[in-house]
Amino acid sequence: MKGLILSGGKGTRLYPITYTSAKQLVPIANKPVLFRVIEAIVDAGIRDIGIVVGDTAEEVMEAVGDGSRWDCRITYIRQEAPLGLAHAVKISQDFLGDERFVMFLGDNVIQGGISSLISQFATSDYNCQIVLKRVEHPEQYGVAELKDGRIVRLVEKPRHPKSNLALVGIYMFDHHIFEAVNAITPSWRGELEITDAIQYLVDKGYKVYPHIHEGWWIDTGAPGDLLEANSLVLDEITHTIEGYVDRDSEINGKVTIQKGAEIINSRIRGPAIIGEYSRIVNSYIGPFTSIYHHVLIEDSEIEHSIVLEYSKIIDIPQRIEDSLIGRNVEIRRSPLKPKAYKMTLGDNSRVGIL
Ligand code: G1P
Repeated sequence: MKGLILSGGKGTRLYPITYTSAKQLVPIANKPVLFRVIEAIVDAGIRDIGIVVGDTAEEVMEAVGDGSRWDCRITYIRQEAPLGLAHAVKISQDFLGDERFVMFLGDNVIQGGISSLISQFATSDYNCQIVLKRVEHPEQYGVAELKDGRIVRLVEKPRHPKSNLALVGIYMFDHHIFEAVNAITPSWRGELEITDAIQYLVDKGYKVYPHIHEGWWIDTGAPGDLLEANSLVLDEITHTIEGYVDRDSEINGKVTIQKGAEIINSRIRGPAIIGEYSRIVNSYIGPFTSIYHHVLIEDSEIEHSIVLEYSKIIDIPQRIEDSLIGRNVEIRRSPLKPKAYKMTLGDNSRVGIL
């Protein structure tokens, strides 16, 4: 069996973070979402993985490399324009050949246990298996209508959903999917929809089965989704303390301190993770916070947030919460008169002040 990961897209809802980086590379609990996806596929025993890349190809290739880090082989497949998930399958036919495969969207984070489902598909006689999850806002996703446990209809982002079962971005196929992606036509949004391709398989009488996922699942499209995924993953991973914690500091609950990190006269209340070579000085790091590598937090308090590499937060009198802070950002009290807010913000930045 092979793996196919889709890692294109512009990530517009995550601007300004994704002006300079692929959305699949934003870290959740200090590990890029895309790496978590690769791990889930490798855990299912798959060693041959294709990654479909678009505008952010260079960056994705640089971060992931040839796959040797995960003991797998990565092949990159370029998609010249974002023409849809079914289009991505179409251009990957040479790579996939006649093998069964799992397709995983590179921005989906799912609670463990999916790997055994993937390996079961390898030896089943199904032509396709989809993963569904009950959600509150099905209109934001592909939606499945089931009857007696079988799929009747799949609709992409319906205005009036017939069920609350959303299509999770994990799909398993055999080679019949190529017949489907070649038969369908673009949707109103100009894309070849995977939902339509699967509907084609259903209509032609192929064996398409649903699996309803009971754990959590998050499509990390917007900042709020990232913070939520970050909280869920932080609560679940195994934590270790490899960095330095001085005697005046206090660590409570599930906390990881990565190597080279220093905690000086501070309090860290988990679940939280402090990345490599970051320094936390006279500060408080509250639950559900991920501080990536080479960050400095001094005389400040932060909670339920993600801070990316090389950023500095210094001497902020009020606690920072629910924030997604990019790379190389500086937030500090300005010492110079006149006393005023002084900001250099990128396009589409969001600041909430007291
Ligand atoms: C895509 C699929 C949709 C699926 C979703 C899961 O939507 O088209 O059916 O429910 O991924 O993340 P998109 O992210 O392209 O809007």
